[in-house]
Amino acid sequence: MNIVSKVSKVRGLVRGWKKEGLSVGLVPTMGYLHEGHLSLIKKCREENDLVVVSIFVNPTQFGENEDLSSYPRDLKADSALCKSAGVDLIFNPSPEEMYIDPCAYVNINGLSKNLCGKSRPIHFKGVCTVVSKLLNIVTPDRAYFGEKDAQQLAIIKKMVKDLNFDVKIVGCPIVREKDNLAKSSRNFYLNEEERQAALILSKALELGKDYLKKDNNVNHLKEVIVNKINSEPLAKIDYVEVVDSLNIEPVSEIKKDILVAVAVYIGNTRLIDNFTFNGGRR
Ligand code: PAJ
Repeated sequence: MNIVSKVSKVRGLVRGWKKEGLSVGLVPTMGYLHEGHLSLIKKCREENDLVVVSIFVNPTQFGENEDLSSYPRDLKADSALCKSAGVDLIFNPSPEEMYIDPCAYVNINGLSKNLCGKSRPIHFKGVCTVVSKLLNIVTPDRAYFGEKDAQQLAIIKKMVKDLNFDVKIVGCPIVREKDNLAKSSRNFYLNEEERQAALILSKALELGKDYLKKDNNVNHLKEVIVNKINSEPLAKIDYVEVVDSLNIEPVSEIKKDILVAVAVYIGNTRLIDNFTFNGGRR
């Protein structure tokens, strides 16, 4: 397994592989890898001749008061995990390798207005910019993203379509802990009491799913979820939203594919979770 920090080196390696007619898959990450990331890597391993994992804590997607400096990093452990998962190349650039006095950014309108885009106004501009750069550097046949970040996945699919990137975006299901907490690098911030309190996200979403088995009023659905989260003293809601899963616009009726998404502060840690529901099938 190669670990490379230079764009030119990645380009050289990929060019060689492509000359041999080999397919390339990319899994973009910010590192501190867990089983959620590994599920993407596993799928990428199954579907491509070569697997590239990028590990880059991307400064442009963090707001001023967010956790860029404290975001957990452990390249040694990440490398060991990647090696045992059959990764061929880790791309681990420095911030300076990726951004030298940049003027060009990739922005997406519409899909980034709601949910995480509302409370993190510059976030998706940073995500779209860095993912565009990674796609241009690695030129993969396929790139893998988790449904855990459902809005990010919808945005990247739309960006790739709108800008004619020659890549297939593959979405992968949410991986959870045994007690149902969605795996996240940010779970590392939680102390024991907060870790327990964090279960309120998946519990509230389960109640939401139960509600949808019986009824389909959007406001009642939100109420069920909000009330459950508010029953946890350590939880503070950022948002509880029901949106169209393709365009991320709020819905007033449950008719087609919807995304039920929550963002909740547990202490100082902001956690997200979601589920999708096919309203057309009821
Ligand atoms: P990061 O949070 O490291 O996540 C990398 C990828 O792993 C994302 O596609 C995310 O959705 C997926 N992922 C994280 N937790 C998961 C889980 N529990 N189950 C399934 N997939 C999971 O998302 C980012 O990094 C960045 O925004 C990035 C796309 C790399 C751009 O900087």
